[in-house]
Amino acid sequence: MTPPARRRVRIFPDRAALAEAAAGEVRRTLAAALAARPAASLVLAGGSTPAGLYRELAERGRRPAVAWDRVDLFWGDERSVPPDEPASNYRLARRTLLAGPPGRARVHRIRGELGAAEAAAEYEAAIAGALGAAPRFDLALLGVGADGHTASLFPGGAELAAPGWVTTARAPSPPRERVTLTVAALSASRRVIFLVAGEEKAAAVARILGGASERAGAADAAGEGAGALPAARIRSAEGETLWLLDRAAAAGLERGRG
Ligand code: 6PG
Repeated sequence: MTPPARRRVRIFPDRAALAEAAAGEVRRTLAAALAARPAASLVLAGGSTPAGLYRELAERGRRPAVAWDRVDLFWGDERSVPPDEPASNYRLARRTLLAGPPGRARVHRIRGELGAAEAAAEYEAAIAGALGAAPRFDLALLGVGADGHTASLFPGGAELAAPGWVTTARAPSPPRERVTLTVAALSASRRVIFLVAGEEKAAAVARILGGASERAGAADAAGEGAGALPAARIRSAEGETLWLLDRAAAAGLERGRG
């Protein structure tokens, strides 16, 4: 019997504590997945917030140990740039996470340098090749932008309604051409963890998780509430959606939440 989908919020004093806790959650999720199945799949978040988490995961000797050679690594999204460009999400992972034991994983890089459409088609085939026709990632890591976007799913974007597992998107700021997993692909994950830090995210987090400053109902009716924000649409269909926040990003939440 699949337990009902559920959402949990944990709040940490600063980014270092957030990264350490997130690393523990990732390790435990992957270790449990590998105890149940021969392989596990992890979707990496883009942006800059995960850097501390990726460095933490690259540390040797941490527990529980992860058999990284049995893990398939994917990305939630990528920019249409070469892998050695500073804007590349892969580049951040290569310089942090993949510099340690996770470098033994099977890495499925989105080849953004091909251009969004070709890279998206290749990536969708790579996912199907690794996980089958209806993949369910064991864990998807996601960030949130100040506008409530996640991966490269932007407010009002056509990509929000895209079918299938991978689509292209046009970001409101450069680099504009993107490849992204879809709402369906991310929500099919057995577990989803949002990693959010910084006061500039507090308003979006409050709208998504319900803040003191948010009048629910009317705001949603006006299309300004959580429902309009892409990050609010991503919930693990069968498992837990865990929001890991630093205190600055949680500033707009109702007192006592988390
Ligand atoms: C991207 C990310 C994006 C990111 C948020 C938060 O490619 O930009 O996938 O969704 O997670 O924009 O970015 P920061 O962590 O840099 O604030």
